[in-house]
Amino acid sequence: MHQLLARSVMRRLVSSSTRNRFMWSLSSPPSAAVIVWKEVGKPSSESVVMMSGQKLGFCGQWWRMMSSASEPPTKNSTSTVAGKEGDKEAKRSRASVERMEGEDEVAVSSYWGISRPKITKQDGSVWPWNCFMPWETYQADLSIDLSKHHLPKTLLDKVAYWTVKLLRIPTDLFFKKRYGCRAMMLETVAGVPGMVGGMLLHLRSLRKFEQSGGWIKALLEEAENERMHLMTMVELVQPKWYERLLVIAVQGAFFNFYFVLYLLSPKLAHRVVGYLEEEAIHSYTLYLNDIDRGEIENVPAPAIAIDYWRLPKDATLKDVVTVIRADEAHHRDVNHFASDIHYQGKRLQEAAAPIGYH
Ligand SMILES: [Fe+2]
Ligand SMILES: [Fe+2]
Repeated sequence: MHQLLARSVMRRLVSSSTRNRFMWSLSSPPSAAVIVWKEVGKPSSESVVMMSGQKLGFCGQWWRMMSSASEPPTKNSTSTVAGKEGDKEAKRSRASVERMEGEDEVAVSSYWGISRPKITKQDGSVWPWNCFMPWETYQADLSIDLSKHHLPKTLLDKVAYWTVKLLRIPTDLFFKKRYGCRAMMLETVAGVPGMVGGMLLHLRSLRKFEQSGGWIKALLEEAENERMHLMTMVELVQPKWYERLLVIAVQGAFFNFYFVLYLLSPKLAHRVVGYLEEEAIHSYTLYLNDIDRGEIENVPAPAIAIDYWRLPKDATLKDVVTVIRADEAHHRDVNHFASDIHYQGKRLQEAAAPIGYH
């Protein structure tokens, strides 16, 4: 009863301001983005609050904006959403009764006043994903050279190269031509190195009181990108119970193996990943060949893939595999580059990290 009364009072307090919502839109080129603050039902009330051609800069500004999201903008503001300090209690109240437009249910009420601003697509429909945001989406660079190969010259390079080549044998025997299943399973492994490397660089940065040169972010981006590959593939292929068991076992072994390897020799660890990515490009090319020959049905692309890679609405599996393959080529470059930096006797932070390299 008390909760109902309190909710009713809060609604009255904030009824006018809760009508304000974020609307997100992309301008051309796609890397440029414009955020507008719009009062629902009043198209003329739009205020451009921020514009950025750089996705990453945009991301940082966005989160600052979110921190004051429940404050309505001043009439003439064109650079900030709500620079003024508002009443913190009112903010919490507004957030706790935040209602998503078009939904009948009130968002989960929280004492902490946490709620996500409404985000819409360019066409005005509600942004359907919580697992990634519009500013994390991108168009894959399909012009990247897929055939580039790092020639193994040193002993460590040869160890990395032949380790990967040997690992391919049991993988080929297990999956044969089930490329969808193969991709899904291997993406569960591919997301590990970036996370381990990023984590270890993060800890090093804390330990040594030094910057990472952007490499923490670059490696974590790679891990997240690989996880999105998995989230896409799992929409197309559902793992069987024994495949799930295999993933648990492989993750346990590979995480610890890569963790120790990165501690002992980051130069070798990055080289191994570089060669793994070369193999991934090869596997996705075989996948595409089977799609072209009609041996694998070219089904419609999952919705998550269309939004993540900004694909056309009628995109197909072939389009999805093509952009994933391009991603793998970028990972190949990043990891061989990282290994080369170590080979030159330098630390990663001495070379600019390829943040946002897709
Ligand atoms: Fe991948
Ligand atoms: Fe990759």
